[in-house]
Amino acid sequence: MKVATYEGFAELETKGWSDDTISSGYVTMFSEASDMAIPSIVSQVGSNSRVLDICCGQGNVTEALANTGHTVTGADFSAKMLAHARERFPSVDFIEADAQDLPFEEGSFDGVVCSFGLMHVPDQPQALSEIRRVLKPNGQFIMTSWCGPDVSPVFQVFYSSVQEHGDPSVTMPDSPNFHQFANEEAAMSILSDAGFDVETQQQIDCFWILDSPEALAEIFQKGAPRGGYLLSQQPEANNLAIKAAVAEKVRERFGHGDKWKAPLPASLIVARAN
Ligand SMILES: C[S@@+](CC[C@H](N)C(=O)[O-])C[C@H]1O[C@@H](n2cnc3c(N)ncnc32)[C@H](O)[C@@H]1O
Repeated sequence: MKVATYEGFAELETKGWSDDTISSGYVTMFSEASDMAIPSIVSQVGSNSRVLDICCGQGNVTEALANTGHTVTGADFSAKMLAHARERFPSVDFIEADAQDLPFEEGSFDGVVCSFGLMHVPDQPQALSEIRRVLKPNGQFIMTSWCGPDVSPVFQVFYSSVQEHGDPSVTMPDSPNFHQFANEEAAMSILSDAGFDVETQQQIDCFWILDSPEALAEIFQKGAPRGGYLLSQQPEANNLAIKAAVAEKVRERFGHGDKWKAPLPASLIVARAN
């Protein structure tokens, strides 16, 4: 069987997370929604645990775990994201590491957390195998991912606008399905193949409160490697048409007083190494 290597996707992700605009845009704009998953994540972690937070980014989850009494290490492959983490939370331990090749001994952690990270990794079976290796027997794995357009209003608006107004020659490199871990059956199958039992999967309400209808496309263009790629590769006329369509749909669907409330539900999985 041919194993996909997703080289173009790996390059897009590596470039994206080392880009000043994308890394800062994620921290200042996108993560307003990601941060809403933190209380649910923290509430699931067993007490007094030694925890690894992989794809830790700006250290939002790492810091919350440190503040609730856990011994925690944050790991991320992006020096730019780690610079944000170290500046924001100087007392927390952060290291540069790829999720597909973790620099830890077997059985080092009671728990591993990966919040909105695994969908950015090209070789997910390899990353899951590394997570299982560094976990103690029966260790806990907690992850979050974004629900897909079947349930997520924000992703419905964004993808449909790109489909309607994008230049058909602009395509994403092959990659694992970005939303697959939000699908119970797919998540169960991938995690079970990797040696985990899924204990619970729940939906979490995350959203952005936007100051203007135009802000949604800006978050995707400036705060996400895939969104940035998909918009910045468009000819200008298509780029403008997509943004206008996104803004129109935000106006129609997300009005909230003098602001716009844009929902992007997340999926939280708690699993255990078997
Ligand atoms: C969407 S951000 C999530 C940040 C943070 N965990 C949160 O919940 O907001 C994804 C993070 O995964 C990191 N990342 C992507 N691919 C990675 C890989 N192969 N190994 C380690 N980190 C990776 C990126 O650098 C980025 O910081």
